[in-house]
Amino acid sequence: MDKKIIAVLGATGAQGGGLVRAILADPSGGFSVRALTRDPNTAKAMELAALGAEVVAANVDDAESIANAFKGAYGAFCVTFFWDHFSAEKEAAEVEMMAKAARAAGLKHAIWSTLEDTRLKVPLEDNRMPTLHGKYKVPHFDGKGASNHFFTDAGVPTTFLLTSFYWDNLIHFGMGPKKGEDGKLGFVLPMADKKLPGIAAEDIGRCAYGVFKAGDTYIGKTVGIAGEHPTGAQMAKALTDGLGQEVVYNYVPPEVYRTFGFPGADDLGNMFQYKRDFESEFCAARDLIVSRSLNPKLQTFATWVAANKDRIPIG
Ligand SMILES: NC(=O)c1ccc[n+]([C@@H]2O[C@H](COP(=O)([O-])OP(=O)(O)OC[C@H]3O[C@@H](n4cnc5c(N)ncnc54)[C@H](OP(=O)(O)O)[C@@H]3O)[C@@H](O)[C@H]2O)c1
Repeated sequence: MDKKIIAVLGATGAQGGGLVRAILADPSGGFSVRALTRDPNTAKAMELAALGAEVVAANVDDAESIANAFKGAYGAFCVTFFWDHFSAEKEAAEVEMMAKAARAAGLKHAIWSTLEDTRLKVPLEDNRMPTLHGKYKVPHFDGKGASNHFFTDAGVPTTFLLTSFYWDNLIHFGMGPKKGEDGKLGFVLPMADKKLPGIAAEDIGRCAYGVFKAGDTYIGKTVGIAGEHPTGAQMAKALTDGLGQEVVYNYVPPEVYRTFGFPGADDLGNMFQYKRDFESEFCAARDLIVSRSLNPKLQTFATWVAANKDRIPIG
């Protein structure tokens, strides 16, 4: 039987990488994977080839390369790379291009890794948080959410995948526990006592694989995924247990977080404020039972900490 090819954008990265590995780990699942990368000769790309992926050169800055990479495929996993350029407009242009390529290739199923357009709940004139880049509240969310229509307009059978905060940000994004002046390890989040839906980045791709395996079930639907909805205090407790050292949760209000000065601190401050202020809707949009049904290996935060405790930098 011919396997259905899934073309995966960001295949050497967090979300796409998890999907590539999930497909390859299930050789009798009926799917094969086409891993898209800007450079098939990097160590990461060659690693995927060695695992059995078809590795194809493609760049979202070159529409023709994406159109070619989608040809002959059954489905595609579409993701954009906000933190490489900080431009919601660039993301929107890329999503439009991906949707057109998906349509031209006659794909039977696209998954678009999106997020909420926060302006639907916090219009630009709402001054609880500053407007950023002239027309956004949370640029890396808003540009994605506002681009969903490109897939619908193009008539592509699409699942809109709402992802969650990667726990891997504690490793790669400098969000791990830091030693305070009192010598205690502190874990900073601008969430007050609200829940922060989170996920092991690897589980995003595994959930996406579950969506493809479910056939038509999720086409035309929005599916939110998370591994758990812990509060900052619960995360600090799991870190304490997993790292074997006390970690204290430090609530920093979003208005302070926005001033931290690293690139994107204002965007992330607004993002956490949105998650804090709309806790119930944000959590409800990321159902844990659905997530686990898509991915039976779904990790909780404590499981993720136990598996990654040696990789979490402690500042
Ligand atoms: N961090 C979080 O908590 C979080 C949560 C939810 C959503 N997100 C969203 O996740 C998205 C990023 O996904 P990710 O974390 O999976 O990315 P990632 O780990 O940074 O990987 C992105 C991969 O995409 C490829 N890539 C970069 N530029 C490309 C281009 N111009 N054309 C084709 N491929 C390109 C790169 O591979 P090559 O070098 O091999 O080409 C890279 O390995 C962002 O938009 C972010 O907003 C993040």
